[in-house]
Amino acid sequence: MNIYCNKYHMKKNFSCQLNLPKFEPLYGINLDECFFFNAPTSDREIIQLDGSKLGVANYCRYVADSRYYQYVENLIPELKNHIRNIAFQQAKNFHNHPNGAEMPVHTDGTRGNYSIQFLIESGGPHVQTTWYQEKGMEVIRQPSIGHRKLHALHEDLIEIESTIYENNKWGLLVGNVLHGVKGIQTTRTAFVIGFNGKDLYDKILQKYS
Ligand SMILES: [Fe+2]
Repeated sequence: MNIYCNKYHMKKNFSCQLNLPKFEPLYGINLDECFFFNAPTSDREIIQLDGSKLGVANYCRYVADSRYYQYVENLIPELKNHIRNIAFQQAKNFHNHPNGAEMPVHTDGTRGNYSIQFLIESGGPHVQTTWYQEKGMEVIRQPSIGHRKLHALHEDLIEIESTIYENNKWGLLVGNVLHGVKGIQTTRTAFVIGFNGKDLYDKILQKYS
């Protein structure tokens, strides 16, 4: 993968901002009711490569209903019949860790290998999404690699790309390369569309970046 990301005039392999109209919610959502997929305790921390520590973010998803499929297909016609999942997702520094919390390193699961997100609230001014290669492994990995193993193995990870997605902007991201999100000080909320297919990813990047 070698993709030229126009906005930043630099090569980006795994992330890019997209120029699409601002996201408009179709109905009220109550993210407080969403299911927590993980509930880390306050004593759990992730040791970073430089030795510093971050808390572990609580994470939840709220699946969007069929009205959003129509909305997304109108917005991005290329996605028609290719959407795997649309959801609101939220990560919180639930235990108010002073250094912020990290969404532990993982690959995405059933949502698909690629995502388009609209970042509703960033969770802090310096929240960084970073992609990694695990030493001795391929860059592209199988779906649903979880944090249980990897959070303890930061020393086995090599940073290969990093970005700060902007609030109230659309972004495109690769989910089948190990990635994590760190520095969440408050609450990070995004509207996220999942899909598969490198050709489709390239087509969307060409048209909207
Ligand atoms: Fe992810």
